[in-house]
Amino acid sequence: MRRRELLRLGGFGLAAGWSFLLGCSNASPTPTPVPPASTPTPRSESTATPVASATATPTTGRAAVSPTPVRSSSGTLTIYSGRSQSLIGPLLDRVGQELGLDVRVRYGDTAELATAILEEGNRSPADLFFGQDAGALGALAKEGRLAPLPEELLQRVPLRFRSAQGLWVGISGRVRTVVYNTERVRAAEIPASIVDFAGDERWRGRLGWAPTNGSFQAFVTALRRLRGEDVARAWLEGIKALDARVFPNNASIVQAVIKGEIDAGFVNHYYLMRERAQAGRPLPAENHFYTNGDPGGLVNVAGVGILASSRASDAAQRFVEYLLSESAQRYFAEQTFEYPLLEGVPAHPDLPPLASLNPPALDLSDLDDLRGTLALLQEVGLL
Ligand SMILES: [Fe+2]
Repeated sequence: MRRRELLRLGGFGLAAGWSFLLGCSNASPTPTPVPPASTPTPRSESTATPVASATATPTTGRAAVSPTPVRSSSGTLTIYSGRSQSLIGPLLDRVGQELGLDVRVRYGDTAELATAILEEGNRSPADLFFGQDAGALGALAKEGRLAPLPEELLQRVPLRFRSAQGLWVGISGRVRTVVYNTERVRAAEIPASIVDFAGDERWRGRLGWAPTNGSFQAFVTALRRLRGEDVARAWLEGIKALDARVFPNNASIVQAVIKGEIDAGFVNHYYLMRERAQAGRPLPAENHFYTNGDPGGLVNVAGVGILASSRASDAAQRFVEYLLSESAQRYFAEQTFEYPLLEGVPAHPDLPPLASLNPPALDLSDLDDLRGTLALLQEVGLL
């Protein structure tokens, strides 16, 4: 198996640990050595146009960040995006046009792009990293690859969804949930803690999970941090012993739950929302949100950091400012069904409000030990 072979490479520390992690969407398990694809942006809308920044100024009622003129030498912004083109391509295009920037995007798996940045060092062409997992951002921060963000931008999102050192900021929230089939499971049957699924014979043969999935792995990392290595190992072994069915990703788990092929599964909240939007009719499935501080209710973020080596940091800051504007935040609420992190922008009405979620107490930067999680998953025989 490819992941195992890569794990044996070892050798170059953190980067090796990252290189074979699959992202949340499992979209691209292979690093893409292609040069950044250019998003066509009219050159005439060039850099220091203050008009463009007017649309980027958020209308949240709080003091707006004054537009920073972009140096003319900084008209090109290179983004390494662990978020898929189908999800955020339209948004990035729009931002580039409104800010008058020639935005170049290299899409790929979050962990692999983080690895690439570590390997490229100061010669990395990336100005901005957009990851779909706080762990990847934490790892880059720890390696000194990210520059401090302006306090004004950081303060737009709650403290728990940004780097304590001000090195990255969350853009949207994604919540771990238990998706279940409402014709086969009553809400009251879901254990009060995700930990209690393990060893409960009532769930034998009824569960689904995706051990190769980046979001699942981030959850395992959280469980290790919150409850310790032994609890995490026992949980993995316990769920495996219940003959939980292995799926390649979150989407296939949700689809199997809807079809009644399995009764429940461990996923991110938005996959069910997408299935609903696509179906356009009620589906026999619900998300269970842990709102009791349980590890099962981990709220992770997709977020951004500006590279310390960027020569276009002003442009990158304006880009971040735009992502944290009301209009961009509404995009995430409406198009990806994630949680907007900007105060005052509501989540999709079918979702419980962000403030009601009560996720486990965890510094999201501490999700960076994915290497240890992968070793554990291997030890248990899940990778
Ligand atoms: Fe995902």
